[in-house]
Amino acid sequence: MPRTVLAQISDPHITGPHDELFEASDPVGNLSAAIHHAAARAEAVIITGDLAARAGTDAEYEGVRAVIESCGVDVLLCAGNHDESRKIQSLFGVQGRNGRLDYARDLSGGRLVVMDSSRAGRGDGALDDDQLAWLDSELDRGAPTVVAMHHPCFSIGGKGLAGVRLDDGSVEGLASVVSRHSNVLSVISGHAHMTLSTAFAGTVAHACPSVAYEFDFRGRDLIYRPGLPQYMLYSWAGGGAGFFARQMTVAPGDAWLVMESF
Ligand SMILES: [Fe+2]
Repeated sequence: MPRTVLAQISDPHITGPHDELFEASDPVGNLSAAIHHAAARAEAVIITGDLAARAGTDAEYEGVRAVIESCGVDVLLCAGNHDESRKIQSLFGVQGRNGRLDYARDLSGGRLVVMDSSRAGRGDGALDDDQLAWLDSELDRGAPTVVAMHHPCFSIGGKGLAGVRLDDGSVEGLASVVSRHSNVLSVISGHAHMTLSTAFAGTVAHACPSVAYEFDFRGRDLIYRPGLPQYMLYSWAGGGAGFFARQMTVAPGDAWLVMESF
């Protein structure tokens, strides 16, 4: 049985046609390159939020739609703190639950559960009791499962990014649900604009880099640079065995040659 491969792109922060672009970044070019690259390798591609640059305007989502349509790839979506969750559901025809962009997708060797951790007007994220109960029931199905949301379930540290995560109650609730299910391969997120991995509730949590701009710490400074066409690839064998996470970077003129076929 071939490995199941899932790709995660995050935080493209696409602007509307007349909006100011983040300094020197190329989110449209990077998102497009990452989608093409990922779709050639993965059976599903999810963008974990902050599709829109700032406030989830119609113009921003028209920009998002234009990039996705130009790629001709069926991309899964997730809501971030710069998004309007209900607008994503209506504009892109994604069926959520109770007004939130919560849904699950079957994969060839497992499942992807997407959760809406965005809360209007807040940079941090939250999951309510209804969402956690739904996650619990989804995980009870027993398939190897990746749980995706915008906000990391762990603290990044550093003053500048201290609030860039789920709130404490949500982390506690999520940990309680996840720790009861050995079939959770990973909890994946965006929002941090950097690549991170850490242990969480008996599994591993990953944060995906942003294709728009990247954060880092240098001494007491929170620093940034324009993003790269980067994304995460997750893969596993039958029953969830041999789960791997790999950060991918699309190089200029990216060309791969077949060495052998199996
Ligand atoms: Fe973001």
